[in-house]
Amino acid sequence: MMSTLQKFYEGRVVLVTGGSGFLGRVLLLKLLKSCPNIKGIIVFLRKKHGQSCQERLFQILSSSEFSAVPKESLVKVSPIEADIEKEGLGLSSKDREFLLTSRISVVFHIAASVRLNEPLDVAIKTNTLPVLEVTQLCEEMAQIEALVYVSTAYSQCPNSEIKEEVYPMPVDNGQIFDGKMLDEEIAMKCTYRKNGQWPNTYTLSKALAEEMIQKINGRLSVAIFRPSIVINAWKEPNPGWINNIQTVTRILRGVYLGRTRVGRFSDGKVADLVPVDMCVNAMIATAWETATSNHRGQTKVYNFVSGAQNPITWKEYWSICVQKIIENPTAHAQWYLFYVTIPLWPVYFSLWLCLELIPAFLIQGLHYCTFGPKRSVKDAFASLQYTTIVGYFSVNGWMYQDKNMRSLLAKLTPEDRDIFSFDIKQINWNKYLENCVMGVRIYILKDDLSTVPQARKRYKM
Ligand SMILES: NC(=O)c1ccc[n+]([C@@H]2O[C@H](COP(=O)([O-])OP(=O)(O)OC[C@H]3O[C@@H](n4cnc5c(N)ncnc54)[C@H](OP(=O)(O)O)[C@@H]3O)[C@@H](O)[C@H]2O)c1
Repeated sequence: MMSTLQKFYEGRVVLVTGGSGFLGRVLLLKLLKSCPNIKGIIVFLRKKHGQSCQERLFQILSSSEFSAVPKESLVKVSPIEADIEKEGLGLSSKDREFLLTSRISVVFHIAASVRLNEPLDVAIKTNTLPVLEVTQLCEEMAQIEALVYVSTAYSQCPNSEIKEEVYPMPVDNGQIFDGKMLDEEIAMKCTYRKNGQWPNTYTLSKALAEEMIQKINGRLSVAIFRPSIVINAWKEPNPGWINNIQTVTRILRGVYLGRTRVGRFSDGKVADLVPVDMCVNAMIATAWETATSNHRGQTKVYNFVSGAQNPITWKEYWSICVQKIIENPTAHAQWYLFYVTIPLWPVYFSLWLCLELIPAFLIQGLHYCTFGPKRSVKDAFASLQYTTIVGYFSVNGWMYQDKNMRSLLAKLTPEDRDIFSFDIKQINWNKYLENCVMGVRIYILKDDLSTVPQARKRYKM
């Protein structure tokens, strides 16, 4: 017996942009695994590192995460060469024609640059303007039923309380489209550079995209899906699975290796983290609701966050993670684990000098004599730079409204709630973060569990 969501995807064709990324891969996996009668999935991929889009898709589908997917399902995925930064999404006229005749009914627009500090023109070119192109393409699709645009829960970060609505921007979006407004002018009006509203170009470009999609949406049913910080899998493809070293995972890796010794966090603020598989399940359900609730021309916003229903503070996050690292040290550790967090920048900087930079100089000096690796100082500066970039998110907190997300969950049948689970209240943080730590060990540090006894012995020496 098929569940309601499985029946919805039966015979449908889905288009995914950003299918090679962290969220995109898990979405492909989940659609193939849990929607056995889906007709097809078309994935936008650009050429990269000398690989064609066909070669990239082959590599993605051959990775271990997809081993549970039957071969006959894998052939349902077809790549299309696209570069969202280019005019017309970089599609050839043949491919565009193919897309318009493929009876696509659901589009997930996920592709973006997640670098927080891209130059403004690059951020707008990658994260804002493609929304116009994708929406126009969707408008031409005869069978289109839902467009899900993946934004971020931090797009409206100038507000301390974030509702599930699109907020008006201080600039005229139309002028950005026409190229009439200079980047400097946009930056000034949005005051993102002057300790003003947006802390970086990533969040600003996403906020602009949200307003744009709402303004230009003519006849489409559109959902803006806003996840907070997306981290390791809760269950699928495996508990703790991760292939991405962005955000807090990057800091966790440094702590695991013993080379990051000080972090900039506000102990009492909420660490708003969501598992990647729950995030993807929520996106799949969002597309279903968007397609079936029949409100064409409207844009509904979904905040997918953990803080509103099952909060954990940064203090709790780090205390659990540090404990789990001590219990399961890595054989690749460069130093004993020592980690303190502090919110104030001057104190953080002084501690960074004493605990990271000076020891790095000493270790590197020693390595010069012994012909050992010479990266320590570079790593210490990388740690400082990353902390500077993400500090805004680790010392501030936001109150989120997630009514739309909750009511969608309530609408699901018990079977769907099981197959496509995204109930954030089910997360037991202690167990889940243990899996996250082990996931970083296995998938990021490439240190499998067989080395745990040896690493424990070394750690006690
Ligand atoms: N990860 C998080 O914590 C988080 C939190 C909130 C929201 N989000 C949102 O979720 C989405 C996915 O994030 P992610 O973590 O999966 O990021 P990711 O792993 O960096 O993936 C980004 C994807 O976008 C594609 N892309 C970027 N520029 C492109 C271009 N010019 N043409 C075609 N494809 C392009 C990338 O393709 P290549 O492989 O070719 O580079 C990749 O598939 C983004 O929209 C992000 O804003 C993420």
